[in-house]
Amino acid sequence: MSQDDVKAASRALSIEYAIRDVVVPATVLESHGHDILKLNIGDPIAYPGLPTPDHMVDAYANAVREGRNGYSPSYGIPALRDAIAADEREKGWPATSDDIYVCHGVTEALQILFAGVLEEGDVVLAPGPHYPPYMAYPQMYGAHTTEYRLDPNDGWRIDLADLESKMNDSVRFVVLINPNNPTGNVATPEEVDAVLRIVEDWPQCMVIADEIYDGLDFTGHHVSVASRSDRVPVVTLNGVSKVYFAPGWRIGWFGLHDPQNRLGSVREALERLLRSRLCASTPAQQGYLAGLTGDRSWMGPYAERVKLQRQRCLDRIEGIEGMEVEAPGGAFYMFVRLTDPAWVANDKQFVLDLLHEEHVLLVHGSGFSPERGRGHVRLVYLADVEVLDEGFDRIERFLKRHRSRSKTEMDS
Ligand SMILES: Cc1ncc(COP(=O)(O)O)c(C=O)c1O
Repeated sequence: MSQDDVKAASRALSIEYAIRDVVVPATVLESHGHDILKLNIGDPIAYPGLPTPDHMVDAYANAVREGRNGYSPSYGIPALRDAIAADEREKGWPATSDDIYVCHGVTEALQILFAGVLEEGDVVLAPGPHYPPYMAYPQMYGAHTTEYRLDPNDGWRIDLADLESKMNDSVRFVVLINPNNPTGNVATPEEVDAVLRIVEDWPQCMVIADEIYDGLDFTGHHVSVASRSDRVPVVTLNGVSKVYFAPGWRIGWFGLHDPQNRLGSVREALERLLRSRLCASTPAQQGYLAGLTGDRSWMGPYAERVKLQRQRCLDRIEGIEGMEVEAPGGAFYMFVRLTDPAWVANDKQFVLDLLHEEHVLLVHGSGFSPERGRGHVRLVYLADVEVLDEGFDRIERFLKRHRSRSKTEMDS
């Protein structure tokens, strides 16, 4: 930086988002005419065969055409808040439309929650590894994120003792991402209850339950966290991006479950912030409303397809030397362990070399947790089986080539 450069805020310059950071070198390769096989981004629309359902697209397009293009109320269109609350009541907690606040995606909801609650020195306790914004955003408000351990040798289940040992008066949020990105683990109802019991002892602490993948649960034991809590305040997060296959619409929401009526001041802070940023996209809210109120029979076949692709990945990884995986219970990610010593401490190099040599794009595990994600890569299994097979053929070839190279180096 020269002396005359206009200064940026250091808090912004230190932000990282691994999932998109690796897209930069991929775009350079594409600009040189290479086709990149992308298994990196959790966007169902990036892969053929899983389009946003027609009735949702029609509702969005009709809203635009019919001139419903004005601002909506700041907390969301009333009919949409009603529909979300009804859906959450089905999941087991007594949501009313007043408890639901519609945002520009769960990512905006997180920014509002952190802005509304966190003070200097506060702590967010998030699963390690986790979706990167849970690390990036709290630091904007002088807070920081600490990780509790997910067990890499036991399906990435929550290490309750580790979580409990990290609780103190500064912890304002315990985050449950369920199913988790990047590991795909789904907490059992007993684990959820155990987390709530731990948080119960800390009156200034709430639970964030990010349930954006809840419709992609292959274990059958997924539960809404709010539905299990009769004391701890729970902020549920969900939206249109993953289970309704429309991430580009940028609609998500947070819901406040306040069983002991302790969130009056938090609610006021959040509502003030929401009003100050006007509203989420009005026509996109209409599209989501159609998804919630219309026929949902399309969801079964979509989930079946994702499940088949999941199985193909598990079968392929089983047959490849240099990779291991804990089978994910939900979402559409696998967090694959690299077992060749050359890559264990070097997952980012693995991703970059694989990209340049074989034109396959994954995300380095350390981008989801420097400590607990190290030696892993995240793979998205939304592509169809032929594309996945091609990806695995190339990964296998790459691993073999590097293994024989390092053997030659050791021998010489
Ligand atoms: C756990 C989790 N939460 C939230 C999001 C983003 O949600 P939205 O598209 O609603 O901002 C993602 C996207 O990958 C995610 O994995």
